[in-house]
Amino acid sequence: MKIWKKQAVLVWLVILVTMMTSKGGEAAIGVNWGTLSQHRLPATKVVDLLIQNKISKVKLFDADPEAVNALRGTHIQVMIGIPNDFLSILSSSSIAADSWVRRNLSAYVSSNPPADIRYVAVGNEPFLTSYSGQFQSYVVPALLNLQQSLVKANLAASVKLVVPCNADAYESTVPSQGAFRPELSQIMTELVSFLNSNASPFVVNIYPFLSLYGNSDFPQDYAFFAGTNHPVIDGPNVYYNAFDGNYDTLVAALNRIGYGQMPIVIGEVGWPTDGAIGANLTAARVFNQGLINHVLSNKGTPLKPGAPPMDVYMFSLLDEDSKSTLPGNFERHWGIFSFDGQAKYQLNLGLGGGLLKNAMDVRYLPARWCIANPSKDLSRVSNHLKLACSAADCTRLNYGGSCNGIGVNGNVSFAFNSYYQLQKQDVQSCDFDGLGAVTFLDPSVGQCRFLVGIINPSSSHGLRGKWTIIWTLFFSGSIVILLQVK
Ligand SMILES: *[C@@H]1O[C@H](CO)[C@@H](O)[C@H](O)[C@H]1NC(C)=O
Ligand SMILES: *[C@@H]1O[C@H](CO)[C@@H](O)[C@H](O)[C@H]1NC(C)=O
Ligand SMILES: *[C@@H]1O[C@H](CO)[C@@H](O)[C@H](O)[C@H]1NC(C)=O
Repeated sequence: MKIWKKQAVLVWLVILVTMMTSKGGEAAIGVNWGTLSQHRLPATKVVDLLIQNKISKVKLFDADPEAVNALRGTHIQVMIGIPNDFLSILSSSSIAADSWVRRNLSAYVSSNPPADIRYVAVGNEPFLTSYSGQFQSYVVPALLNLQQSLVKANLAASVKLVVPCNADAYESTVPSQGAFRPELSQIMTELVSFLNSNASPFVVNIYPFLSLYGNSDFPQDYAFFAGTNHPVIDGPNVYYNAFDGNYDTLVAALNRIGYGQMPIVIGEVGWPTDGAIGANLTAARVFNQGLINHVLSNKGTPLKPGAPPMDVYMFSLLDEDSKSTLPGNFERHWGIFSFDGQAKYQLNLGLGGGLLKNAMDVRYLPARWCIANPSKDLSRVSNHLKLACSAADCTRLNYGGSCNGIGVNGNVSFAFNSYYQLQKQDVQSCDFDGLGAVTFLDPSVGQCRFLVGIINPSSSHGLRGKWTIIWTLFFSGSIVILLQVK
C-alpha cells in the first residue's frame, strides 16, 4: 500500500515536471533585433544587453556579420533573415542558394565558437498587400532551393526555414471564418505543406496597434488585454482582445487548408512609444506586459485552448531611426529600449530577469547639443530645417510625437541637434549659416528628449575617420602630432 502510494506520487511528479518543462504548451519570449539605425549600439553591447535580460531567442532581419559574430559563443538561439530583394535570385539559382547557405549560415554554425542558428526567415512579410505581389511567386521556389542547400550542407536537421507573414495574409469578419486571401490560397497551401513536411512553424506578425492606428472605429480597449466593452462574439466563442481574435483567424485559415494543428510562432508583436497618437510609453508598457502575461499564462485561445504560440518575438529590442516612415512616424519608435539600450519603461519579460535592465558602459559623445542661436533671426531657417530632417530623424516633431508642442524655435533646435549628433558633433554641422549654436545645457523639455549620440568604434563611419587622420599625418611626417591626437 505504502509502496503503491509512493509510486503514484512519483508518477504524478514525473507528469507534473514533464508538463512544466514540456516545450509544447509553453511560449518563450524572444526579441527582434533590427539594425536600421544611424546610432548603432555596438553589437557586443547589444548581446550583453540580451544576456543581462536573460533573453535567449533573437530574430534578425539579415545575416549582418557584426551581429551574428557577436552572438557566437553565447547560448542565444538565433533566427537570421533573408531580405525580400534576395528571393528572386534564390528562387532561380541553386548556386546562389548554396552560396547563401555557405557564406551566411555554415560560416557561423561551424565556426568556433559557433552561433546557435535555429531558423532562417526566408523573406520578411513577402505577401504584404502593399508589395502588390512582387515577391510572392519567388517564396516557395526559394524555399525549395534553400532546403536542398541545407541538406547538402548537412544543416537540414538543425536549421529550419520559415516565412514570416503579415496578418494581412488572411482575413475574416469573425475568427472562425478565417481564410487566406483568395489570391494567396494556392501559394499558402504549398508553403504550409512545405513547412509541415519539415516540422517548421508558421510565423506571423500581429499588430493590434496598426488596427487601432488605421481604423478610427476600432475599439481602443479591444487592442489591450484588460477586458473590453466590445468583445467579438463568434458563435460559442467570445474574444476579449484583438491579439486572440487575430491569432484564431490564422488558426481557422490553417485549418481550412488542412493544417489546423500547425505550430505558430509570433514573429513580431509590440507597441511603439512615439510618432503617433496612441503611441506612448504607458500604452506600450500596458500592451507589452499584458501580452507577455497573457501568453505566459498558457491559456491559449478559444480555438487553441492551452496552446499558446510556440515562441513570441517582441518588436522590437531597440529603436531604429533609419526605418522608412512610409507606414507612419511611429515606425522608428518600436523599441522596448531606446537606441542606446536604455529601458523606456518598466517591463517584465517573464524570463526570470525581473524588470528590464539597461545596457551597461554605453559610450556617449560629450554632453553637448546644437540649438537655434537665440540671438539670430530665424525667418530664413526653413531650408536648413528641411535638410537637417531629411538626413536625421525628426519624427518626434510631428503630430502625435513627444516633441510636437515645443514651438517654432524648439522645432529648429530639435532638427539642428538631430543633425549635429548624426554628424558625431562635428563643429561644421552646427553652423547652419550661423543660425546654430552649441550648448552645454540639455535643451530637452518634458517628454521631448534631445539626444546625445553614442560612440560605436566598430561602425564603418568611425573607422574611416580614424584611418584618414592616421594616413594624413603619416604622409606629412608629423608623428608627434599623431601621438598627441591618440
Ligand atoms: C548573405 O546575405 C546578404 C543579405 O543578408 C547578402 O547581401 C549576401 O549577398 C549574402 N551572401 C551570399 C554569398 O549570398
Ligand atoms: C497613450 O495612448 C493610449 C492609447 O494607445 C491613450 O489612450 C492614452 O490617452 C495615451 N496617453 C497619453 C498620455 O497620451
Ligand atoms: C513644429 O514642426 C512640426 C512638424 O513639422 C509641426 O507639426 C508643428 O506645427 C511645428 N510647430 C510650430 C510651432 O511651428
